[in-house]
Amino acid sequence: MMLASCSEDKVKYRIGISQCSADIWRDKQNAELRMGAYFHDNVELKFAAAYDSDERQVQQIDSLVNDGIDLLIVAPNQVQTISPAIDRAYDKGIPVIVFERKTSSQKYTAFISADNYEMGRVMGEYIVSRLHGQGTVLEIKGLEGSSPAIERHNGFMDAIKDASGIKIVGSLQGDWTEETAYETTKLWFNNNKDVHVDLVFGANDRTAMGAHKAMTEVTTPLAFRRVVGGEAVLYCGIDGLPGENGGIQLVRDSLLDASYIYPTHGDQIIELAVNILEGKPYDKETLMMSALVTRDNAKVLLMQSEELMRQADRLDLLHDKADNYLHELDTQRIVSWLAIGIIVLLVVVFVLFYLYHLRKISMQRERVTNTLWNMEATVDSSPSTANSQQTGTVSPANESGFLSHFREIVEASLSDSNLSIDDLAADMNLSRVQLYRKVKAVSGSSPVELLRTARLNRAYQLLLTTDKSVSEVAYAVGFTAPSYFTKCFKEEYGMVPGDVRK
Ligand code: FRU
Repeated sequence: MMLASCSEDKVKYRIGISQCSADIWRDKQNAELRMGAYFHDNVELKFAAAYDSDERQVQQIDSLVNDGIDLLIVAPNQVQTISPAIDRAYDKGIPVIVFERKTSSQKYTAFISADNYEMGRVMGEYIVSRLHGQGTVLEIKGLEGSSPAIERHNGFMDAIKDASGIKIVGSLQGDWTEETAYETTKLWFNNNKDVHVDLVFGANDRTAMGAHKAMTEVTTPLAFRRVVGGEAVLYCGIDGLPGENGGIQLVRDSLLDASYIYPTHGDQIIELAVNILEGKPYDKETLMMSALVTRDNAKVLLMQSEELMRQADRLDLLHDKADNYLHELDTQRIVSWLAIGIIVLLVVVFVLFYLYHLRKISMQRERVTNTLWNMEATVDSSPSTANSQQTGTVSPANESGFLSHFREIVEASLSDSNLSIDDLAADMNLSRVQLYRKVKAVSGSSPVELLRTARLNRAYQLLLTTDKSVSEVAYAVGFTAPSYFTKCFKEEYGMVPGDVRK
């Protein structure tokens, strides 16, 4: 019980996280979600990544629900396809946080994201101004049917619709991955060798970089140079991740011309989840702030984000250390409880054993004191007396007197090892047979038995009250062989004579 109570965990909130994809943006977010959970020791996270597959995400959501999660956090791969699974979870009473990508259903508890339409719009305005209102743009969209792809595209189109000098030369279907963007752009180029491109707008940085790779591979780069000034093609994306090969670094290193920070904020999502689970107030819709990354601010943003990442790493390290320490503490606590348990057990066993020993001694003493030999006045209540009364051999009034007389004679010559029953009968003025009958009637035992009991009783008292050796005691009570004395003693008292003094 002690062990169970000390290792007993607090109530856990099990939060299921269903990510539509697995990539550096999701990795960063998952790390933040974990970090957010550090601040709540009653939260357990279960992650699932669908690798851009609708079917897989639906299965994963169903299995998270079956696993008994208390809350679902989900980024649906596409608007329509994942909604039935989200609805099923919601209908089971599981709170649902939809984040970053939208669902077609209203069955969710809260929604948290940056504003994807605004991102597309701001990027559109930036592109117009970057091209001085004049130029050609190749757009590579995000996964068809996913809300950020739709909204970023709409925002972008709205921003450029009044810029008559900006011409969209192609709007290709991507799926957020670099590989698809690379393949699609290459194909498009092969079919549009004469089309001039000033700028590529990818729905995310990886898409923009896929196009970049395809473009730099083409044999006639001239086709992709701006007419005025002969500048290289510009690439813009969205995500603006910090760290190695993140969008901010790509902008700083001029591989991208601009990006837009698409905030991950996993810790904020966990706060929202905990507020919902704990019945605290929360916002049903949360819009996260975001910002454009250009060559002007990339260096500063990178420095700041690197510092943040350094701090996050340290926090992670600190958490690991605290975790190890708590683990050790737990083990030590268990060991201490075990040690205490063993000590208590030993004490209890010792006390019980001691009590048992005391009881045994007191029972033995009682037995000695209560032997028929030592009884005087109580004779008439003994069963043997009752028997003799029925047979009518000895009258109760005489029993006690007879027995005390017999006792006196026996005790007077107890040390005489030659004392025989004939001697005793003679001393009692009875024949051997008469003595036997009378003694048997009064005590239920034969004279020989009583004589032996008397000897052993005296021996017991001598052992208790004198420091005579066992052999000396044996001889003193009329035994001729100490070994035989020990045997009889053991039969009578259940212990050897030496034990009396222990
Ligand atoms: C990450 C990602 C980002 C993109 C977002 C859109 O999985 O592909 O690159 O901005 O999802 O939902």
